[in-house]
Amino acid sequence: MKLKKILLCAAFSAAMPLAAQDNVVTVEAAKPGSVIQPTMYGIFFEDINYAADGGLYGELLKNRSFEFSPDHLMGWQAFGKVEVKNDGPFDKNPHYVRLSCAGHNDMWTGLQNEGFFGIGLKRDAEYRFSVWARVPEGKAQTLRVQLINEYGLEEHQEFVSKDIKVTSSDWKKYSVVLKSPRTMQDANLRLFLCSEKGRNGDGVMDVEHISLFPVDTWMGHENGMRKDLAQALYDMRPGVFRFPGGCIVEGATMDTRYQWKNTVGPVENRPLNKNRWESTFTYRYYPDYFQSYGLGFYEYFLLSEEIGAEPLPVLNVGMVCQFQNGDDAHAPATEAGLKPFIDDCNDLIEFANGDVNTKWGKLRAEMGHPAPFNLKFLGIGNEQWADPYFKRVKIVSDAVRKAHPEIKIIGTSGPDSEGHNFDIGWEAMKEQKADLVDEHFYRNIDWFKNQMNRYDEYDRKGPKVFAGEYACHDKGKKYNHAGASIYEAAFMLNLEKNADVVHMATYAPLFAHVKGWQWRPDAIWYDNLRSARTASYWVQALFSQNKGTNVLTTSLSNPTPKGEDGVFAQACLDSKKGEYIVKVVNTQEKAESVRIDLKGVKKIGAVKAITLDLSDYDLENTVDNPNAITPQESAIKADGTSINLTVPAKNFIVIIANK
Ligand code: AHR
Repeated sequence: MKLKKILLCAAFSAAMPLAAQDNVVTVEAAKPGSVIQPTMYGIFFEDINYAADGGLYGELLKNRSFEFSPDHLMGWQAFGKVEVKNDGPFDKNPHYVRLSCAGHNDMWTGLQNEGFFGIGLKRDAEYRFSVWARVPEGKAQTLRVQLINEYGLEEHQEFVSKDIKVTSSDWKKYSVVLKSPRTMQDANLRLFLCSEKGRNGDGVMDVEHISLFPVDTWMGHENGMRKDLAQALYDMRPGVFRFPGGCIVEGATMDTRYQWKNTVGPVENRPLNKNRWESTFTYRYYPDYFQSYGLGFYEYFLLSEEIGAEPLPVLNVGMVCQFQNGDDAHAPATEAGLKPFIDDCNDLIEFANGDVNTKWGKLRAEMGHPAPFNLKFLGIGNEQWADPYFKRVKIVSDAVRKAHPEIKIIGTSGPDSEGHNFDIGWEAMKEQKADLVDEHFYRNIDWFKNQMNRYDEYDRKGPKVFAGEYACHDKGKKYNHAGASIYEAAFMLNLEKNADVVHMATYAPLFAHVKGWQWRPDAIWYDNLRSARTASYWVQALFSQNKGTNVLTTSLSNPTPKGEDGVFAQACLDSKKGEYIVKVVNTQEKAESVRIDLKGVKKIGAVKAITLDLSDYDLENTVDNPNAITPQESAIKADGTSINLTVPAKNFIVIIANK
């Protein structure tokens, strides 16, 4: 996070007289209360809005394995003599392309890939091209690899061109690094079949798993993530990382549900799956939305580790999406019927934590991570409800608990934020002794205003809360805007206040490509080269970066009545960093003066404020204007152990006082 240092902003005054305070925030600073879980604020990743292929996953080519269907050449333009064949070297992705001599001196054979809404290239950056290829007749051929601007005015469409000589009749992987001399959002990749001497191909070449990655990925992994997007996740300092969804876990049909075992092992042989969001909305339809699973469970675990978050996989409970399928299309609610789903859970725990001599632990080690990933949590079922779910989740979680009592199990209260199904969901989860319950609420501003005390009355003896998907939607038709994010900030204070019962919270959805979204708002938007961290992202980041270790009892002299705008505040202690942290949100249209009294401490050290100005209702960070809303840091002078400040209209301020 880049924070501008402003020296003693005029809004903060140490000399403000007591009587002028509209609000006094009293913090029991010497009495650390409930522990705030390290998992308190996190991120929820789902492959919606081209979040994986075309987003976080670094692959730049679409349909690299020719498995998209019904058109196996989707994303490609073929020219000359091109045939799709299906007896390739990777049994789970059997299709490949045969390129043969075009049969005329001035005719050429080849392929052209359009990428995801084009291929984004940066000037002077390097890109690793790779292909599995063979010359089945044994006659050496050359594959000419070009980066092109098909619709430019230049004499030459290609601006990079390199040749790869293929001499073997056995399948082999070839690769070459291409350096781009230009920045472009929408380049294409073109491949020509050439003879050994570089003229039109005079033989046959088979090509499969054709791939192009930036060399400079997050942490430099070859099968890596797009760096700016992974960096945005890291910068939040998330405590937990939930994956792989969402509805995608359920699938629109049983066959297209997310199956983690298909997402591990060599990338070339991870079978393609339809993306459930391809066809969810006819008004935002994406026939080319598939899951290559190049970003699979190994990569999710690794990313969790690298961004410092606890991994939290969610697995299918033997049910498809209830909205789309009603109550009938599920696996039988018997131990036998659910065996594959139980096995998926237990095998996943072995994959994450098992010894390298176990079947799945061995695979993890072979993939590059002999040390366990230290999995502690497992979600069973996403957003399902009523009896069909209750029956199945009991059978699956009983079996998982028996095998792995050390794993905390997360059930769900379904898609509703309250009401009958929500209530019976919670009852069932209590009865089944789920460790946490995943609640979802995409709601409007009025709902958020009325929920500012949501968790105060929650049962302290039942399961803990995982607010697993939420966002303030307000107008809905926005990328994200300040006017809604301010209510997310105010609401999150109540999560923190109730950290004894709320153990995790993750905003959703996380990512969206500006040209391929199905759902908004989202936390981070991007095109092929740029990304924007939204106001909601910054709200999440400020909470997560300043979550503290213990709740401090906080009272306001002028508490805001339910459903109204006002001033909201909550404090915590960070015993590791030696900081008192007070978060204040003013949702009103007018500024308020606030005095914070840190009770029970004799003195405090330096104080700073990080301010997020959300007062311009319609303002949003976009890829064209990514820094319209960013946190600003300033120093404040304390008056003994009191801090006086004016909180401008619709501002969220984090005050950090050193001990
Ligand atoms: O985040 C988008 C969707 O909202 C998720 O897939 C689902 O769990 C919820 O309905």
